[in-house]
Formats: sequence, structure tokens, C-alpha cells
Amino acid sequence: MHGKSVLLIIGGGIAAYKSLELIRRLAELGVTCGAILTRAGAEFVTPLSVSALTGQKVFQDLFSLTDESEMGHIELSRAADLVVVAPATADLMGKLAGGLANDLASTTLLATDKKILMVPAMNVRMWESPSVRRSFEILKKDGVLFAGPNDGEMACGEFGPGRMAEPLEIVAAIEAALGGAKSLASPLAGVRALVTAGPTREPVDPVRFLANHSSGKQGYAIAEALVRAGAETTLISGPVSIAPPDGVKLMRVTTAREMLAACEASLPADVLVMAAAVADWRPDIAANSKIKKSTDRVVPLIKLVENPDILATLAHHAKRPRLVIGFAAETDDVVENAIAKRARKGADWIIANDVSANLNGESVMGGERNRVHLISAAGREDWPEMSKRDVGTRLAARIAAEIKGAA
Ligand code: CTP
Repeated sequence: MHGKSVLLIIGGGIAAYKSLELIRRLAELGVTCGAILTRAGAEFVTPLSVSALTGQKVFQDLFSLTDESEMGHIELSRAADLVVVAPATADLMGKLAGGLANDLASTTLLATDKKILMVPAMNVRMWESPSVRRSFEILKKDGVLFAGPNDGEMACGEFGPGRMAEPLEIVAAIEAALGGAKSLASPLAGVRALVTAGPTREPVDPVRFLANHSSGKQGYAIAEALVRAGAETTLISGPVSIAPPDGVKLMRVTTAREMLAACEASLPADVLVMAAAVADWRPDIAANSKIKKSTDRVVPLIKLVENPDILATLAHHAKRPRLVIGFAAETDDVVENAIAKRARKGADWIIANDVSANLNGESVMGGERNRVHLISAAGREDWPEMSKRDVGTRLAARIAAEIKGAA
């Protein structure tokens, strides 16, 4: 993505605010972004905020002498690698489908020789209207790419398809479009992913166990993002209290040894994401009946033995997945420890995070947000703080670029 350039056309819709976030996300990836703001778009976001984020002049008017003399509407899109319309309104879709050009946005869309990615956002009834369905079908036939719309609650209070895709989903679609992945909606179609999540529990006796604070949220979010990207996803989960994402094949396990067995039974896979917080040790003997307090108050001694290292085992397995991704939950020297862990375990990537961090008043373990570093042979990437869902989406996009890029 680095060094690529996108022309973003911002249409008039309440979802236009997400386009500002999209510009920021693209900038983080080294993608430059020029922008056209339609008259209706300018009712929702200001030219000043768009230009502050793109670092460039925002183009608005077809008949502006200054705009045309600086950069004509034909050249505007020629300088870009991809034209993205977000939000793509019923109006913009209809105009392009019908060949109309009466403002800068529609003229640029007709005049471009670049691929167009539309990110629709509109009320569910509009989206389902025969006329928008027609535009959608025509545009798809003409080779226009689409990201979303998603199902969900809308600003207007209704529920259904029409909600604009989230910024990181759009980034994934842009990445796929620029990288030439076969299917935009499903950049990971045909890919088998294996994700582990949550803690493991190591029994002491029938009523007690050793475990840790992992909530499973990050692993579940990754599994969900991989399913959204079209991967056939198996989620092997330790005991957690969250609902599994739709579309995953869920395998519930309790101990580290069960998790290893479930992983091995699920091979072959193309990608492994080991997000589980596996217990490093287990009691050497799990008592068959409850350990009682002795009358002489002697405290029981629990001898620990080491659990198998699932990540290292699968990284050196005869059926090793093509891309092996581990996690490093650290409290000190996060990146240094993660670099050493990557080499020690034979993983391709390590996603490292500081689990002692407090983000937005919440601890990382159990909380909704995360700040991670991606460690690979190419070095380190520091991702900004974001929701665990967004980490999942961005990781799925990276996985798609890696797997499809190498295909
Ligand atoms: N892991 C594993 N099997 C284990 C322990 C850890 O597969 N028995 C995986 C985790 O799922 C994670 C990575 O190894 O992807 C790193 O886990 P972490 O607990 O950070 O590393 P440890 O090897 O346990 O090292 P340490 O606790 O000393 O930091």
C-alpha cells in the first residue's frame, strides 16, 4: 500500500464522518489521499477538516476556474491508483449507472480510467428500492467494485442493509483492490484459518483450576474478521463467556493439551492465529476428588509441570500452516521480548501487546481496546490504539495481502 494514492469522493450522507477516519487510516499506511467533496457531502463534513487530514486542497466545484487551472477534473483521477466513493449515495450510484455528469464528482467518475470502489451508505429502504438495485447491478456489471453495505442499526433508527462499511473494512477493500486480490468482498475466499482464543484451565481437582484473565475478546474479534473476509475459520476456544461469531466452526476446549489436540485435528490450515493465553504449566496430578483441608492444617503442595507449547509445536509441524501468527502478552520490554519470542517459537509474525496498559480507563485484558505491534522478518509495525474489533479487521486485511500476494 505504501506510496499508493487514492482519490476519495465524499458524497452526502451522515456516514461521511467515517471517511475522515478512513483518510487517517490510509495515511498511517503511507497511502496519499486526494479528495473531492460533493455539495451534499459538505453539509456533513467541512472542506477544512478533509483538507487538514489529507494535507491537500479539497476539490469541490466543476466550474471553478482555480480548481480547473490547478488540476483539471480529468487529471484528478489520473494521478490516483484507485477512485474510492465513500459514502456512495443513491445519487452518485444512479448518476454513474446512467452516465450522467453534472458536477465534479460525477464528471470525474465518468472520466476516470482507474478502478472505482464504491462504499454505499443509505437508508435501508433506499438501498432496497428497485432503482438503486438496478444501479447496483449495472455498476457491478461495468466492473465497479463494492465494499459493504453492512447490516446494522442506522443513524435514522432503522435496521438492515445500508450501513456504510467500517473504515478498516474499507482499508481492507482498498488493499485488496490495489493488490489485485480476486474477490473484494471475500479477499480470503478459499483460505482455511485456525484461530485460538481465551484462557486454558488446568484442573487441580474437580472444583479448582489454574487459569488466567484472558477474556477471549481479541481472538474472537480476529475470527470474526477472518470470516467476514471470506476465510473458512475454525475457532478453538478456551472457557470464555462471549458468544461465538456467526460463521465460525467452534471447538470448545478446556486445557492446553486439549487445545493442542484440537489444533492438530484441524490441520491442514493456511493461517494459524494463536491468540489464546495458554497456561504454561499444569498441576502434575489433577486429583480425582476434592482436596480437603487436613486437620493438622498442612497446606497442599501443588507440583507444576510444563504444558506443551502449541505455537512452537505447530510452527515446526509437518503440516505447518503457511502463515503462523503468535501473540506476545508482555508487561515489560514488549517489543524486545516479542522479537525473541518470534525467533524462539518459529512464528512468522508476532502480535505483541502490553497487557499491563490501561487504555481508556480499562485494562487490556478483558477490555475493549488494544494497542499492538506487529513483529515480522521485515521489522516492527506500531499500530495505534484501536478497538479489538479493528485490530481483527486490520490483521485480516494484512493476512489477505500476505496470502494472496504470495499466491
Ligand atoms: N503459547 C502456546 N502454548 C503455550 C504457551 C504459549 O501456544 N504453552 C502461545 C500463545 O498462544 C501466544 C504465544 O505462544 O501466541 C506467546 O505466549 P506467551 O504467554 O506470551 O509466551 P510464553 O511462551 O508463555 O512466554 P513467557 O510467558 O515466558 O513470556
